Amino acid sequence: MKISGISTPALILDVNILKANAEKMGQLLKGTKLQLRPHYKSHKCAALAAWQVRSGAIGMTCAKLSEAEDLCDAGIEDILLANQVTDMVKIRRLADLAGNCRLTICVDNAENIKALGIAAANCGNTVHCLVEYDIGMGRCGVDTKEEVLALAKKIAEYESLTFDGIQAYAGHLSHMEDPVQRKESTAANYARLTELIAYLKENGVEVATVSGGSTGTSTIKAAEGLYTELQAGSYLFMDATYRNLGLPFENSLFLLTTVVSRGANRVMLDAGVKTCGMDQGEPALVTGTAQRIAANEEHIQLHGYTGSETVGDQLRLIPGHCCSTVNLHDKIYLVDGEKVVGRLLITARKMGR
Ligand SMILES: Cc1ncc(COP(=O)(O)O)c(C=O)c1O
Repeated sequence: MKISGISTPALILDVNILKANAEKMGQLLKGTKLQLRPHYKSHKCAALAAWQVRSGAIGMTCAKLSEAEDLCDAGIEDILLANQVTDMVKIRRLADLAGNCRLTICVDNAENIKALGIAAANCGNTVHCLVEYDIGMGRCGVDTKEEVLALAKKIAEYESLTFDGIQAYAGHLSHMEDPVQRKESTAANYARLTELIAYLKENGVEVATVSGGSTGTSTIKAAEGLYTELQAGSYLFMDATYRNLGLPFENSLFLLTTVVSRGANRVMLDAGVKTCGMDQGEPALVTGTAQRIAANEEHIQLHGYTGSETVGDQLRLIPGHCCSTVNLHDKIYLVDGEKVVGRLLITARKMGR
């Protein structure tokens, strides 16, 4: 089949750019102590996760327990759930899952550690723990080194838990446009983390794992030599938000749309917020320019569009945010030039529990 035969709106993935992005990440990390643990949220395709692990990733990162279950079903043996799981129903599920893979979870609360420890012991399984340290994002995690130490000691009270190290994710730096500012802010975090690791060591707690990082900070993290795991996710697909940051990765994922109406000064496409994630802004054009892009549920509006496409023609867009866009689709078409060479099922689509 040719791309022109795809019913739109649909996601298409350029396999050659995808492979080049994976190779660039491999080269970036080669010879460093940083190992790749890609984030599943960016593609949610079990087959791609298996490919990443076969290609050298030490395991996968995910945000939701249901994603971890999906990864485990796909044969991924080493999974980091880089989030807190606090309700009892899920804690039981999590403790059970830990019997089928090497499962690591993030914690920032003593009562949560207790619940995890008891549930894991009841299942006869081991749950690995990273204490989350807030390095400026203001999302989850504790703020002081004393709190990290107290939680590491709490974890040590349970035979069913192990303290593996620190989760420190600086998501607020990922999209910082000024590369100098991004580098300087990352360096400030480096200093805080180095101090924390030294403090824990002085108090008899060894940190084996320091996990975090994103596509936006991947080059900095590879050079700095402190983190042991890189959780980058978007590097494979990229998106309109990341493409202006001067990173070594190219856009491989496109939203294929069809022109449904063309007026003198506007083009309407058959995609909208139900098929294109807008949480980080509008999609970008591949051909032509537009004075203004707007979106409704089922329409993307290009005002003052300069391209020649007319009603019935296909038009490619670069999604504003690849992760939220993927979650709106069932499958991705793999393309090589104008040919469709395969399909990927988005197995963890809508897996938010
Ligand atoms: C915990 C965590 N790790 C890593 C990432 C990095 O993802 P990306 O490389 O797609 O920016 C994210 C993004 O939201 C995240 O929440």
